[in-house]
Amino acid sequence: MKQHSPHPAKPRVVTTKTVITMKRNGEKIAMLTAYDFLVAKYLDQVGIDIILVGDSLGNVVQGYETTLPVTVDDMIYHAKAVKRAVKNALIVVDMPFMSFQTSINDAVRNAGRIMKEVGVGAVKLEGGAYIADIVKHLVNIGIPVMGHLGLTPQAINKFGTYEVRATTKEEAARLIEDAKILTEAGTFAIVIEKIPAELAKKVTEIIPIPTIGIGAGPHCDGQVLVVYDMLGLTEEFKPRFVHRYSEVAETMRAAFRTYIKDVKGGKFPTEKESY
Ligand code: KIV
Repeated sequence: MKQHSPHPAKPRVVTTKTVITMKRNGEKIAMLTAYDFLVAKYLDQVGIDIILVGDSLGNVVQGYETTLPVTVDDMIYHAKAVKRAVKNALIVVDMPFMSFQTSINDAVRNAGRIMKEVGVGAVKLEGGAYIADIVKHLVNIGIPVMGHLGLTPQAINKFGTYEVRATTKEEAARLIEDAKILTEAGTFAIVIEKIPAELAKKVTEIIPIPTIGIGAGPHCDGQVLVVYDMLGLTEEFKPRFVHRYSEVAETMRAAFRTYIKDVKGGKFPTEKESY
């Protein structure tokens, strides 16, 4: 007869330390975004390592053109819903545009609100060497920070396009330098977005903390996608780096069409669905 252990393997509770150890052990890190209770619950149930409450919610939940209008209150609202669902994954929350760039005081106040009011594991800040002092200060006072280099959507008005970043020798050298400086400042991981795969490989080899790639090739220590993109909900958004794992938009439309037809045709509700 099969013996059942009274102590089945417990799912791992992921911390910032866990992800650094994962890099050391050569274990890839799987990260996806979530903005609500149910998606976060299903991600956590299937063993995602990191859930990012990204400011991409400005695009995919709120319908803005860019992430710039997103506020700290918006991030806290969505992060609270995610937090209620998650038992094991590390939750990281984006610091939105102008919530940290203005001063160390603003960064401490806003990151402090996110940590205190939601109770998550870390915050993520977009930017390179120029935010190193802010990162250092947050880490020193006990707020873990994930960096974000390469394509940084909060800087879209500076660049004007969402094209691949760091394609010249000078830009590549600057990105490597930024990654080193952020590592020294105390980040526990760095998202590198939409840069050449060979450059991402180099960064991953140079820095001791994990790189989490999005459009940065296969050599990063982990990967992240916007959950609505990989589910096929954001149909018009089709960059090369988005692998569609489902076609949820079409599934939803089909269900909605059938519902409308059933209501109009008097087929719903049936007796079985009535009291
Ligand atoms: O806001 C976001 O979802 C992000 C990921 C794309 C990395 O920053």
